[in-house]
Amino acid sequence: MEDTMKRNVLLTSCMIAPLMLAGLEGQARDRASIRNGRYLVMIAGCNDCHTKGYAFADGRIPESQWLKGDDLGWNGPWGTTWPVNLRLLASSMSEREWMRTKYAKTRPPMPWYALRDMTDRDFRDIYRYLRHLGPAGRPAPAFLPPDKIPPEPFVRYPR
Ligand code: HEC
Repeated sequence: MEDTMKRNVLLTSCMIAPLMLAGLEGQARDRASIRNGRYLVMIAGCNDCHTKGYAFADGRIPESQWLKGDDLGWNGPWGTTWPVNLRLLASSMSEREWMRTKYAKTRPPMPWYALRDMTDRDFRDIYRYLRHLGPAGRPAPAFLPPDKIPPEPFVRYPR
C-alpha cells in the first residue's frame, strides 16, 4: 500500500471506531432500559389488570401474552372501565407523547398516581419495554358511563 493510502485507512478507522463504540453503548443502554421496564411492570402489578388471567395464574402467563389489556370490565360509580391494551397504546405513540401522559388522571381502578409518582426514567423505561414487546392483540372495550350496563364479564364495586 502506498503511504498516503495507509494514512487514509488509518484516519478513517480512527473516525469510525468511536462511532461504532457509541453505537454499542447506545444498544447497551436500550437493553438496560428494556430490562428495567420489564422489572417495573412485574413488581408494580401492571400485569394484574392489563394481562388477562395473570392475577389468577400466580403470574404464570407467557410473556408474549403480557399487557394486551383485558375484556374484564370494572364497574362502579365512575361507570365501567377496561384495562387498556398497553402494547397497542405504546406502539401508537412516540416516546415524547408517552411522557406527556404521565400525569393524566384516569378512572378507577387504574392506579394513575403510581405513574405520577414514579421517576421520569422509570416511566420511559416502561414505554421502551412495551415497544420492545411490540403491538399485539385487540383494543380493550371503550369506557361506558355510569348509566350504561356493561356486557359480562365485569367486576362490580359497590355504588
Ligand atoms: C387495578 C387494575 C389496574 C392496575 C394494577 C394497573 N392498571 Fe393501568 N389501567 C387500568 C384501567 C381499568 C385503565 C382504564 C382507565 C380509564 O378508562 O380511565 C387503565 C389505564 C391505563 C393507562 C392509560 C391508557 C390511556 O388510555 O391513556 C396506562 C398508561 C396504564 N393504565 C398503565 C399502567 C401501568 C404502567 C401499570 C403498572 C404500574 C398499570 N397501568 C396498573 C387498570 C389497571
